[in-house]
Amino acid sequence: GANGVTAVAQPNIALIKYWGKRDEHLFLPWTSSLSMTLDIFPTTTRVHLDAEATDDEVTFNGAPAAGEERRRITGFLDLVRQRAGLTHRAVVDTRNTVPTGAGLASSAGGFAALAVAAATAYGLDLDDTGLSRLARRGSGSASRSIFGGFAVWNAGTPTAPPAEADLSSYAEPVPVGDLDPALVIAVVNAGPKDVSSRAAMRRTVETSPLFEPWAASSRDDLTEMRQALLRADLDAVGEIAERNSLGMHATMLSARPAVRYLSPASLTVLDSVLRLRRDGISAYATMDAGPNVKVLCRRADADLVAEAVRAAAAGGTVHIAGTGQGARLIDE
Ligand code: DP6
Repeated sequence: GANGVTAVAQPNIALIKYWGKRDEHLFLPWTSSLSMTLDIFPTTTRVHLDAEATDDEVTFNGAPAAGEERRRITGFLDLVRQRAGLTHRAVVDTRNTVPTGAGLASSAGGFAALAVAAATAYGLDLDDTGLSRLARRGSGSASRSIFGGFAVWNAGTPTAPPAEADLSSYAEPVPVGDLDPALVIAVVNAGPKDVSSRAAMRRTVETSPLFEPWAASSRDDLTEMRQALLRADLDAVGEIAERNSLGMHATMLSARPAVRYLSPASLTVLDSVLRLRRDGISAYATMDAGPNVKVLCRRADADLVAEAVRAAAAGGTVHIAGTGQGARLIDE
């Protein structure tokens, strides 16, 4: 129909992880995080307003969204409506090419695309900073997918009064030297996860004795990561990313009860990454809230790394990603 707006966004993979909220309502994180936006797995979202409708209509890959998935999207639309001072319901049609709920950051591209499309459809005049803050309210990691390349999401000043804290936390591009890395993504299990990242991070913050030390070391990791990216030092970038991710998983494993996303297949892939390094290939692993493993390497080594990882991820699928663009409007 007329007056529709369509946006597309890709997921990002964090090299310095976001794990833990200080404010669950405003999505304010304990620590700043840093990621690479991918050039694969786009989410395309169309939004148009319907003055006559009494409820939002949300379609996800052609089927009506239901339950928690629908509630998150309509809740996000409520926020946009409140800002716009409008009450119109919306028709939202989302098409996603990434396996949902498998720790492949589908919510990042999803809410980045929705933020851009909904903000435009409701007439909010937001710059990238404003869009990043808005996307954050749908899913923390989505704040980073507003930007292409590498982005840092600033924790901001979460203990300030709410309005000020909200304004202080957004993502922005990170300056990077002459670096053209690939991320080889080993999907060892594309099924939905047992524990949502939201519930898992809450439990980690509340119960893990390792959470505070990890958060402190993550702040140092971010400082080192910025320097490593500036000097385009892929080995340093990879080493920092790998330890930051393993540390995040250590905080989950020490939560009570423990949260474990890594499977035997994940560890087999991690072993293949160690073998690659022993053979002199720069390859470093990072894992999120699922068993899949993302391997950072030089673009020139991506095919070789993908081969090694494919052999290790018996039965799994392997994708090669480069750095992609930020969220944007497209013509239909
Ligand atoms: C492990 O952004 O999906 O991928 O803010 O609750 O929606 P919510 O969580 P989400 O968490 C991502 C966690 C992570 C690390 C990261 O992307 O930084």
